[in-house]
Amino acid sequence: MGTHRSPRRSVVILAAAALALTWTVIATGPHASASSARRAGSICEAQELKALAAADPHLAIEIPEEFDKEFPTLEACRSHDAAWDPEAEGPLQPIPFSHKHHAGLWEMDCQYCHSGTDRSRAAGVPSVELCMGCHENFPKEYDSLEGIQILKQYWAEQKSIPWVQVHRLPEHVKFQHQAHVRAGFDCQTCHGPVEAMDKLYMTPDTKWWQYGLPTQKLEMGWCIMCHRDNGASQDCLTCHY
Ligand code: HEC
Ligand code: HEC
Ligand code: HEC
Ligand code: HEC
Ligand code: HEC
Repeated sequence: MGTHRSPRRSVVILAAAALALTWTVIATGPHASASSARRAGSICEAQELKALAAADPHLAIEIPEEFDKEFPTLEACRSHDAAWDPEAEGPLQPIPFSHKHHAGLWEMDCQYCHSGTDRSRAAGVPSVELCMGCHENFPKEYDSLEGIQILKQYWAEQKSIPWVQVHRLPEHVKFQHQAHVRAGFDCQTCHGPVEAMDKLYMTPDTKWWQYGLPTQKLEMGWCIMCHRDNGASQDCLTCHY
């Protein structure tokens, strides 16, 4: 995947972006005439143009009626695109689902979707049914988002969504969410600021032993350091079968 992009290529992209920006500023500046009004070609484009026009009353915009909708909101459109950004950290998911949008902006409880964390070994990811519990009731125009079309495709075919796993321990390790959640740790202690992420990734967390050796998240040292600091068991059989 495109994680090892050469620096030269990013310079070219940067230069192209700067050019495009300059062009946009010139084309949409206060001198733009009515004939050069910017026309929206989708609901999400309409939301972007409305936001630009709100900031600059001189900007001439044209929103065809079919794209002049309340939903998807500007934030949803932006999160949708950001969650599918191949350059952003973390694996690409089959649907551009944004935690920032659902858990951050709409303040949905983590355990509403990851209901296993307080009682079972696995946190689990939500079923298609759970997604559709909300999305079935959304207005028709919400289907203009590609992610929603894909969601509804899985629903129609009664298939589960093949989410790409981000955190994975080897089989020989025992880990239980419930012991940790009941001990009072926030999800963020181990998973970072999930509610601020459009695309989910494993946040770095390096612990240092006294003799200067680093240990990363999900490695044995990472678990042991926290167990030591909190007086929890360091017995091999606590974490191994
Ligand atoms: C509790 C209700 C609820 C549940 C459950 C829910 N959503 Fe959403 N979803 C929303 C709301 C509200 C919005 C945003 C509406 C807006 O601002 O336009 C949204 C927006 C979205 C978007 C566009 C923004 C983004 O995040 O990319 C996608 C895609 C999406 N949902 C997919 C899903 C999937 C997949 C699931 C199941 C894992 C799911 N939703 C579960 C309520 C829900
Ligand atoms: C003490 C650290 C810790 C805390 C606190 C924690 N997690 Fe995890 N989480 C992990 C580890 C480690 C894994 C990998 C588990 C595995 O591979 O068996 C994981 C995996 C997951 C997964 C992947 C699916 C699964 O079940 O393996 C989800 C989803 C998840 N956590 C959500 C949450 C949520 C939501 C909370 C808060 C309610 C939370 N976690 C709290 C450490 C933690
Ligand atoms: C509307 C449902 C929904 C809500 C609310 C939600 N999640 Fe998730 N979560 C998902 C879905 C779907 C995935 C799988 C796709 C992905 O990784 O983005 C996921 C994946 C994860 C993972 C990675 C699992 C893995 O494979 O390792 C973690 C960690 C996680 N969520 C933590 C949280 C935390 C913490 C919160 C609250 C701040 C939260 N989630 C709120 C639906 C939700
Ligand atoms: C943020 C600190 C923290 C991290 C990180 C952490 N643990 Fe723990 N863990 C604890 C504490 C505290 C307890 C004791 C909870 C109690 O006794 O109620 C515990 C308890 C446990 C238990 C015993 C559960 C039981 O039923 O008694 C296991 C197994 C475990 N942890 C495995 C792991 C593994 C494996 C990892 C690394 C992947 C890990 N822990 C990472 C703090 C942590
Ligand atoms: C708090 C939890 C915890 C305790 C206690 C623990 N381990 Fe581990 N151990 C882990 C985790 C997590 C991994 C997986 C690390 C990884 O995949 O990088 C692991 C991996 C290992 C491995 C495999 C190393 C490898 O390269 O894959 C061995 C061997 C091992 N542990 C032995 C032990 C022994 C012996 C003890 C007791 C002295 C012990 N562990 C105590 C969590 C623990």
